[in-house]
Amino acid sequence: MCGIVAYIGPREAYPIILKGLKRLEYRGYDSSGVALLNHGLHVYKKKGKVADLEESLVGKNLHAHAGIGHTRWATHGEPSDRNAHPHQSANGKLAMIHNGIIENYAQLKNELQKKGYVFKSDTDTEVLLNFIEDIQKNNYCGLEEAVRIALRRVVGAYVIVLLDQDNPDTIIAARKGSPLVIGVGKGEHFLASDASPIIEYTKEAVYVNDYELAILRPDELILKNLGNEKLTPFIQKLDLELAAIEKEGYDHFMLKEIFEQPDTIFDCLRGRLDVGNATITMAGVQNNIEHLKNANRIIMVACGTSWHAGLIAEYIFEELCRIPVEVEYASEFRYRNPVIHKGDVIIAISQSGETADTIVAIEKAKEQGAFIFGVVNVVGSSISRIADAGAYTHAGPEIGVASTKAFTAQLVVLALIALKIAKEKNAINDDRYVHLLNELHNVPEKAKAILPMNEHIKKLAEKYKHAKDALYLGRGYNFPVALEGALKLKEISYIHAEGYAAAEMKHGPIALVDEALPVVFVATKDSCHEKIVSNIQEIKARKGKVIAVVSEGDDVIPKMSDDIITVPEADELVAPMLSVIPLQLFAYHIGVAKGLDVDKPRNLAKSVTVE
Ligand code: AGP
Ligand code: GLU
Repeated sequence: MCGIVAYIGPREAYPIILKGLKRLEYRGYDSSGVALLNHGLHVYKKKGKVADLEESLVGKNLHAHAGIGHTRWATHGEPSDRNAHPHQSANGKLAMIHNGIIENYAQLKNELQKKGYVFKSDTDTEVLLNFIEDIQKNNYCGLEEAVRIALRRVVGAYVIVLLDQDNPDTIIAARKGSPLVIGVGKGEHFLASDASPIIEYTKEAVYVNDYELAILRPDELILKNLGNEKLTPFIQKLDLELAAIEKEGYDHFMLKEIFEQPDTIFDCLRGRLDVGNATITMAGVQNNIEHLKNANRIIMVACGTSWHAGLIAEYIFEELCRIPVEVEYASEFRYRNPVIHKGDVIIAISQSGETADTIVAIEKAKEQGAFIFGVVNVVGSSISRIADAGAYTHAGPEIGVASTKAFTAQLVVLALIALKIAKEKNAINDDRYVHLLNELHNVPEKAKAILPMNEHIKKLAEKYKHAKDALYLGRGYNFPVALEGALKLKEISYIHAEGYAAAEMKHGPIALVDEALPVVFVATKDSCHEKIVSNIQEIKARKGKVIAVVSEGDDVIPKMSDDIITVPEADELVAPMLSVIPLQLFAYHIGVAKGLDVDKPRNLAKSVTVE
């Protein structure tokens, strides 16, 4: 994700772009920049917040009537001045900003380097820009045609917006897979990732569709498809309030991010999972496969929700790779003076990449010779730089304090890593391997199928919002999901909730059960299904209220439960990516029903950068 703003018309472009970028910082905030057209191209860009860019430009001549601006959420190339957007083409004549991922950038870069292109940044964006320049040069064509030709070879998602110093009265933009809105003014046009930078200037908007190209001039808007056919722009009236736009119409970032999960899981798989060829492409794993497949043991180190992802990864890695796995709270691991051997691999799991306990834990382990592999969401974060290798979760900025889409993205990445190692070790037979690749491939669609349960879950939240305590129970892969569900309820609704291994209830906690206690069972179809049925019976025998998350087609547990939430059936190894979604929604709706600030719960921070 990132924020894109552009303007062309009679007004000063810079103030419009700057204000718009500030409105879009929720979409990405590791660096930002602007390119202005005024007797040539003037490009200013900087690591840090938009305010840092603004401060660096005080006193400069920023006069221009056409410009583009970008606030970045890095995917290729860590946050830095040189990797910030806009990028400039090799001949200096073009400036471009980009939202998305060019999956085949490495191949394109290789072709361009063979032609003598030298790159100033590590981004996929600069590759696409020079690819466009190269096409212009070789085909003696205009920028619009070069963009069209280039985009036919691009694999991935993009919104791109370009300035051409030889055509200062024109802005060119194209879209596939990332959002782009055109603001239609009188003698002026605006472009942005959403309507928030536009709405104060005009209420007339055109939402650009995939594979469409927009040519903007002050008094002209041309929309075309990649086949160069003109399209009729469909002008809509903007009626959303500013605040709502940032949340894309959702009441809270947390709900938006829960609903984003089919897309973020798809983005996590994008460019990595190729079901057709039964391959997984992950450079960080491939280039370090000897360390990983020969590990004496793997230690998952994390905190909070990320620690729950590590628990699920323990089941996945031990089942698939047959490598012993331990899961450690980073805060305990770092003080315990653990025994670390050279052949140990530490997998550090962190959304922010800045959690203090996790940072220190891996620094200490690294000193003792462990190989550190990071599974991180924020590109260029501390953990991603300390780690010897890693894989990003590509979940985009997670604004809600409660981790939701980052958690499911962690599970996807961890499953991909385990499958790749297992394959390299010949520890998995081809049938199971192909089966699991297909299972992963189907997760986005299955996750999407859960979202219509939202209204039903909202009703359950109304029913249980006055609970003083709650129990979350699961077995096997679903045990860590129970822990995660309990954490979500605690941190969002402030109701005391405990997650437990369902079988463990008999060893004491079942004394808690009475008719006032809601017990949430994560009971999707798996190898422990009969056992979980017995556990539910034990709770019902003591008048506990049972809410069960079950797989479609389960006709046993629903008959025993007070309330059920149904999710699509899936292999138990990927089922947690699905069964957690109703628990996220349940916690969210109880928090809302209790009138709490679900995006910023009391006492919490998005990233615990203190010890
Ligand atoms: C999860 O909902 C919490 N916000 C919290 O437990 C979080 O998972 C934990 O602080 C770890 O953060 P990290 O993933 O950024 O390292
Ligand atoms: N992939 C591009 C980069 O890493 C764009 C990322 C974004 O959408 O902000 O610079």
